[in-house]
Amino acid sequence: MVEDAEGTQIPSARAAVAAALQWYAHMGVDEAIGDVAVDGFVRSAELAARRASAPARTVADQHDGTRAPLNRPAAPASQPPRPVPRQPAAASSMAMDEVEQLAKSCNSLDELARTLDAFDACPLKRTATQLCFADGLPGAHVMIIGEAPGRDEDEQGRPFVGKSGRLLDKMLACIDLDRTSDDPAKSAFISNIVFWRPPGNRKPSTSEVVMCLPFVKRAIELAKPRIVIAAGATPAQALLDTPTGITRMRGTWKTIAIGNGEVDVMPTLHPSYLLRSPEAKRFAWRDLLAVKAKLLAM
Ligand code: URA
Repeated sequence: MVEDAEGTQIPSARAAVAAALQWYAHMGVDEAIGDVAVDGFVRSAELAARRASAPARTVADQHDGTRAPLNRPAAPASQPPRPVPRQPAAASSMAMDEVEQLAKSCNSLDELARTLDAFDACPLKRTATQLCFADGLPGAHVMIIGEAPGRDEDEQGRPFVGKSGRLLDKMLACIDLDRTSDDPAKSAFISNIVFWRPPGNRKPSTSEVVMCLPFVKRAIELAKPRIVIAAGATPAQALLDTPTGITRMRGTWKTIAIGNGEVDVMPTLHPSYLLRSPEAKRFAWRDLLAVKAKLLAM
């Protein structure tokens, strides 16, 4: 607590920020990233102007007439933050059915990679060094789909070649899989839900994922895996078309329609999450054992 000019006890900036974060968490806000950037300076100026013209507010002035605890921020104003209008890049206006047609028109993984390399509608391409499409053996019984290329992947143009890739390789080795093997039963085909590195390694936005999804699905159709491992929330939610969190989803088999058929999907934890939370490795281990058991039963 600190005192204002009139001697009133108010929470310090640090405590106020912590309380605000806690309040957001209670409200179910678990993402700090939106599809459209919010200009906080414009927002603060608006709030300051509104505050200057509003009558002095008392603790009883909550929207519902109740008193707010002083350490909790007031409920947000009814108007949502005004998004900063963004000029859509010309290429981003490509209609989704055109993107789907383009993906479907590719008859091999090589053609898909060439088409993606020439595809300009995903804004991530503008900031990435190069396309990062796939690694491992096309036709392998297992395909892994991660979240997005990171810095190492962006430099090398191959998915999962950095720190999380090394952990992924160890995880695969635990179930006798090796992306360098030429045997489809022992190898793995590896890709991501978006094909270019998001700037600063941020999470890909919904629109970026939606833009890449037809290509991901076509890659699955052409690579013909028996099992897809969706590593992390972003690929699992996109492939399974659900907002459910990965901790609830992981470990349970799902099926997705791909082309004229279906593929079994095992959602699991992302290797980079496991690097940060090694105690969660036991859950990933269970998921891998389920994959192994299914492969043996096929
Ligand atoms: N994380 C991913 O999800 N994919 C990569 O290719 C690398 C790190």
